[in-house]
Amino acid sequence: MIVPGSSSQLLAAALAEETGRPLATPTYDRFPDGEGLAAVPDFDGESATVVATTDSDAAWVELLQLQDAVREAGATDVTTVVPYMGYARQDRSFGDGEPVSARAMARAISTGTDRVVLVNPHERDVADFYDMPVETVDAAAVLADPLPADLADPLFLAPDEGAIDIAETVRDAHGTGEVDYFEKRRDRDTGEVEVSPSDAPVADRDVIVVDDIVATGSTMSESVSVVTDRGAAGVVAACVHPMLAANAVTKLRSAGVDRLVGSDTIERGCSVVSVATPLADALESAGPN
Ligand code: R5P
Repeated sequence: MIVPGSSSQLLAAALAEETGRPLATPTYDRFPDGEGLAAVPDFDGESATVVATTDSDAAWVELLQLQDAVREAGATDVTTVVPYMGYARQDRSFGDGEPVSARAMARAISTGTDRVVLVNPHERDVADFYDMPVETVDAAAVLADPLPADLADPLFLAPDEGAIDIAETVRDAHGTGEVDYFEKRRDRDTGEVEVSPSDAPVADRDVIVVDDIVATGSTMSESVSVVTDRGAAGVVAACVHPMLAANAVTKLRSAGVDRLVGSDTIERGCSVVSVATPLADALESAGPN
């Protein structure tokens, strides 16, 4: 059975459809003292695929509870799909006394599962923090689906070096276009982002800025401002994980984004594409269920 976390109900339903597996209907309650209680009253079967994006601390706790609940309900094999792995950007200790938060989270959910499937984790190396087999799925190609076929001399732009791979993946899925990237520097204290633009000509071209995640929107909006100022014909901001924290959406609009495209790893208004198909393929090769 596919068992959704509360933040991944649409994706879990799409995955159930895609794989032909039944979809459980968990309950998500909260006690007066604030503690959560996620349960699986209708779970029936020996294998469970828990699908839970971890975009908040509460979502991590809920995932732990769902893993435990399915075992209590009789599952002998558990796959944990984490469409968006929160804390993945804290993949090392950045200062004295700081934790490697991604490792702490990975260890916590390792105990309740037989395997883990991650979608475009910030760095693939976070997979090493888990104590069991991990499959990482690159779902970036789905971001090309909503792009019109007649883009004007398209430029697929990575806002920093780390995003070049996914910009290339989206360009390849679209079928044509150039790939370029900016250099980025973030002030760790203020969070402010500065980009050093490349000199790629953008005037009268359609620019698709591609990143793994839009969190505060600073990286994306800085890059979009540059290409808008340089006369791009149209600007699409595309990301796998549309976290869109705080005022990210208005920052992007002010910078000149014409269209925001995200996937359903985090379910938002801009989640116009689904990672269900690449996930279903990965589940097929990942093991039982
Ligand atoms: C960083 O390397 C990531 O790929 C993203 O560019 C970054 O995390 C986006 O964060 P924000 O939206 O806060 O600038």
